Order: sequence, then structure tokens, then C-alpha cells
Amino acid sequence: MVATTLKTPHTGDYHQPTGLFINNEFVEGVDKKTFEVINPTDESVITSVHEATEKDVDLAVSAARKAFEGSWRTETPENRGRLLVKLADLFERDIDTLAAIESLDNGKAITMAKGDVGMAAGCLRYYGGWADKIEGKVVDTTPDTFNYIRKEPIGVCGQIIPWNFPILMWAWKIGPAVAAGNTVVIKTAEQTPLSALYAAKLIKEAGFPPGVINVISGFGKIAGAAIASHMNIDKVAFTGSTLVGRQIMKAAASSNLKKVTLELGGKSPNIVFDDADIDNAISWVNFGIFFNHGQCCCAGSRIYVQEGIYDKFIERFKERALKNKVDDPFQADTFQGPQISQLQFDRIMGYIKHGTEEGAKLEVGGKRKGDRGFFIEPTIFSGVTEDMKISQEEIFGPVCSISKFKTKEDAIKVGNNTTYGLAAAVHTSNLNTAIEVSHALRAGTVWVNTYNTLHHQLPFGGFKESGIGRELGEAALDNYTQTKTVSIRLGDALFG
Ligand code: NAI
Ligand code: MG
Repeated sequence: MVATTLKTPHTGDYHQPTGLFINNEFVEGVDKKTFEVINPTDESVITSVHEATEKDVDLAVSAARKAFEGSWRTETPENRGRLLVKLADLFERDIDTLAAIESLDNGKAITMAKGDVGMAAGCLRYYGGWADKIEGKVVDTTPDTFNYIRKEPIGVCGQIIPWNFPILMWAWKIGPAVAAGNTVVIKTAEQTPLSALYAAKLIKEAGFPPGVINVISGFGKIAGAAIASHMNIDKVAFTGSTLVGRQIMKAAASSNLKKVTLELGGKSPNIVFDDADIDNAISWVNFGIFFNHGQCCCAGSRIYVQEGIYDKFIERFKERALKNKVDDPFQADTFQGPQISQLQFDRIMGYIKHGTEEGAKLEVGGKRKGDRGFFIEPTIFSGVTEDMKISQEEIFGPVCSISKFKTKEDAIKVGNNTTYGLAAAVHTSNLNTAIEVSHALRAGTVWVNTYNTLHHQLPFGGFKESGIGRELGEAALDNYTQTKTVSIRLGDALFG
């Protein structure tokens, strides 16, 4: 059995593939292993899916290699684009099913899940548009030489994605890779394999040749590690924890020096000046930390508020956070669903306990919500000092810390006081402050009077230990192409 019939509160029965998607077919793993997929809302088992081991990674890589050498690298850019656009259309056709699968498997609120699927479609279509616009150039050197520079695909790409945005990360990875003429073996996170397998069905329907995109479910230490150290994979792209990012880089270094891009964690500062529109700032600060249950690499988890509005801000922010509806993700007005797993739930509760013990003031939240599912109340700590663990480490849950600052210089200093550099935000009505602080913050994205507003046209990625390379925008194509110089001698032989 490589498929099953599942049901969600929003779909009725639907056809859910459970196999490994290799060469456009759903197959069992070589070792016939499976693992359970858990619903974080009620901790029940949704189904089991087939697990990829090293042997299955080998098979998927062979399929991707054959597709790359056989047809895909020489496929016309127009057709590569056409297929990606077709896939985007199928995502939009099936948006309700894909979103419901995402809410079932990941626990995210259905309105947010729909947003993710819509953005995934937008991303695929955007890179479909890029496929025939990846251009080289001619470079004049001497009159008897004709030189041109080509942007060629890298080859077989191994892609490892996390569970916080299962279908969106899938699209971010596949879009630029395939547009540029690469083939792909993508491993989903063991917590959330379902939406990607449903999307694999759409790959086939869109008409992609076998082996161009292979989708496997499996564990990091087995299938993920096999990808990172594979001798026949030319590039690995990873999104997840900094800890694993380091392991991927080591594995790449000690195998075949495959190219590496990493999109890792963050501890992003969200800075509110006295002159900010306070209602607007509170909305964005709330969305900045509590969106996706705090499980965002760019979550605005360190909130710095200028002293003139500090007390007022805390009071109003508390009121706002208490209005976030934490409940069943399938209810239309739910804002926050459960955390992804027992493990993440325990980690987050551990940080909350630590924050209290370290002497931070718990303003709101801090407890489990309900007795079933991994729900945690939106949690706000105030009076947090820079040395506290909750101010330094990525919590990846609905927990934030607020501290007071005096001057613009202080805000920049504390904002940059982290080993991470993924995102940051500034809230102010003063244009000079906005620009000056945006330029001084060491982060890949800086938002002004907004937060978490990612767009597929805008590059995203990390300074410092938040990663290497950029996703989205034209910049992502740099990570999926390599530069070839062709130099043609036009004159006579130089050396007789
Ligand atoms: P993780 O980094 O272990 O998992 C992310 C992906 O990497 C999954 O597909 C996993 O199977 C794979 N993986 C794990 N170990 C691997 C290995 N040795 N070789 C190759 N692939 C491997 O993250 P985890 O344990 O799920 O979450 C732990 C923390 O990581 C979170 O609390 C959060 O701080 C951070 N995280 C950051 C994310 C981001 O978007 N930047 C996403 C998920 C987690
Ligand atoms: Mg799950």
C-alpha cells in the first residue's frame, strides 16, 4: 500500500499517497519500513508513511541523475517554466485540500495554511517565469578572443526541509532549483510528510519527466545524513536548526565538497521607538512572534521598546496577545494551533521555566492550554536582560521577551547582540531613524513598521550564524546555477 484514504474536517475523504516518490512513482522503501504521522492537535496517529533509508536515497539520487543527464539539463527553458507554472495552477486548484492536509499534519490554523499554499503557488509560478530569463553574457577581452559566460545548472540537488512550513519550504526549494535546470531529491521533515506527498501527485499530473523531482519521507539522522554525505549529489540546500546546519556542512566537506546553502535559526530583534504608531506596532509585534505559534525562523522574539512608551506598550501588548485565539486549527477564527510535537512542547516549556528561574517577569501565559494536543499559551516575559538564556537562544515557540532601551544607539547595540542575523524590525514614524537603524542592523531582512511579510520576489536569508546563501528572488538562482566561461580563440595560434 503506497496510498491511503484520509479525511480532514474540511475535505471529506481524499487520496493521500504514503510512498516514496521516485521516478514519478510512489513506491515502498527498500527495507519496507514505515513511521507514524502524528496529529499535533489531539496527538492521534493520522497514518503511516514509508521511510527512506540510505538505499532509497541512492535510488532517488540515481533517478535524479538520470533525469538530469538524460533530458532535464537540455530541456528548453520555456518548457521548464511551463511545467512550473502548471504546477502552480494545480496548487491553486487543490488549495483547499493542500491547506487542510497542512492543518491536519502540522496543526497550523487553516487560514494561515491557505496563505502558505497560496504563497507556495506564487513562488512556483514566479520561478516558472524565471526559467527562460537566466542569461549569461559576452565579455570582450582581446580582439582575437570571443568569450561568453554561461549560467549552467549545478546538477542533482539534495534538499532537506523542516516542519514549520512544510509546503511553503517545499516550493521555495523546488522552484529555483528546477527553473535553473537542476533535478531534485527533497526530504521532508519526519513530523510533516503529508502535504509534500500530495504535491508529488501534482508533479506527475503537471507532466514533469520522471526523476526530475523526487520526494522522500524519512529521518534526519538516516535519510538526511545520507543526502548530506552523498557522493553523487552536487549541492545540498538545508533549512532547519543551526546545529544540524553545521553537521550538513561538515558532511559536505568530508564527502564530495558539494555546494551548500543553509537557512538556519534566528533570534530576531523587533525594535519599537517612542514615536511609532503604537496600535500598528503592537499588531505587528504580536504577529511577529505569535504567527505560526512562534515556530518561525524569523520570529521577532526579542522585543525592545523605548522607555517613553514601555509601560503603556506592555499593558496594550498583553491585551492584544490574550485576544489571539488558541484552539483547533480547523476553526476559521483560530490564530494559533498546537506546537508541532511533544519534543518541541517540552523544549518550549523548559525555556519558560528557565525564564522564570532566571528572574524575568512573566507578564502573560506560560502554561499549557487544554489537556490534549501540544497547545501553549502566548507567553510574554518582561524585564529580560541580555545575559538571560531566553534572550540568547532560539525558543521556537509562542514566547517572547521585552526589554527597555533609551537611545537609538542602545537599540542598535542590543539588536545586534546575537550570534544570529536572519531578520529584524524597526517601528518608528521617523524616516531617518527607520533607514539608519535598518542599515545598522546585521540581518538579512529588516522590516519597517511591519513584520513577517515575506514575498517570493524578495531575497531571504541570514547574516552571521543564520545561514549561507539566499532563498527567493533572483538571488536564489545564484545558489542553483554555476558559472562557466567559454573562451574562443579567433586569431592564429599564439605560440606557433
Ligand atoms: P532539525 O534541524 O533537526 O530538522 C530540520 C530538518 O533537518 C528535518 O528534515 C530533519 O529530518 C533534518 N535533519 C535532522 N538531523 C539531520 C542530520 N543529521 N542530517 C541531515 N538532516 C537532518 O530541527 P528540529 O529538531 O526539528 O527542531 C529543533 C530546533 O531547530 C527548533 O526548535 C528550532 O530552533 C530549529 N528549527 C529551525 C527551523 C527554521 O526554519 N530555521 C525549522 C525547524 C527547526
Ligand atoms: Mg504531524
